Amino acid sequence: MVKIIKLNAIDSTNTYLINLGKNVKLLDETIVTSERQLKGRGQLGAVWQSQHQKSLTFSMFKRFNNLSVAQLPCITFAVSIGVYHALKKIMVPNVSIKWPNDIMSYSNKLAGILIENQIKQRKIVSSVIGIGININEEKFENLPQATSILLATGRTQNLEEVLNVVSNSILKELDRIEKKDFQKLKLEYVELLFRRDVVSVFEDAKGYRFNGKIKGVSEAGELRVENENEIIKNYNLKEIKYLF
Ligand code: BTN
Repeated sequence: MVKIIKLNAIDSTNTYLINLGKNVKLLDETIVTSERQLKGRGQLGAVWQSQHQKSLTFSMFKRFNNLSVAQLPCITFAVSIGVYHALKKIMVPNVSIKWPNDIMSYSNKLAGILIENQIKQRKIVSSVIGIGININEEKFENLPQATSILLATGRTQNLEEVLNVVSNSILKELDRIEKKDFQKLKLEYVELLFRRDVVSVFEDAKGYRFNGKIKGVSEAGELRVENENEIIKNYNLKEIKYLF
């Protein structure tokens, strides 16, 4: 049975769950949701905005058994695939995964993922998996690329039902990590990548813009981009910006 902690308001469900884990032995798969998230955290120190009763913000605690740090990207793969399948089930059109783990409908961001890992002696002991999904928002201030399930489908959703579908779907994919299905997870993730194999504009860390095609991801989870000279390079999150 999954344990759910429901909060009215909190700074960040990820921070809350990480701190709770320092004080008590958390049950595997514990979920924390909050009606209001006051200081939602995004990737690379960004802020994650949510709207009361319209956005879903939750974090899940997942323990791993003897999982090497080399498999860190597989957690991203499994969680992204899980959110992807859940949104497909809710009939969101044209869903894809924008590397590393933004979930898109067409060219708009619908959900974000922030995974924070607890590592000991080169083993991943546990992860706190934070998910933010735009559900019933009708508009966004200063976020031209954002969309919601309502905007993408024309239908409002019950937040608890979406939580159920998404968390079960993530847990199903995480189970593949226990079964060491690493290669297939990576293959499926690459299949679902936003703008894979089509020409896009990128900017590297030095501000140099170039046309390239996403070819996949490396074992370390870096983005593999082929430039116009057909040379493929690997980039980590800080080394490349996706422009359009
Ligand atoms: C991103 O796309 O930058 C990642 C956004 C992750 C947001 C979620 S909302 C629930 C959890 N708590 C947080 O503070 N962040 C994550």
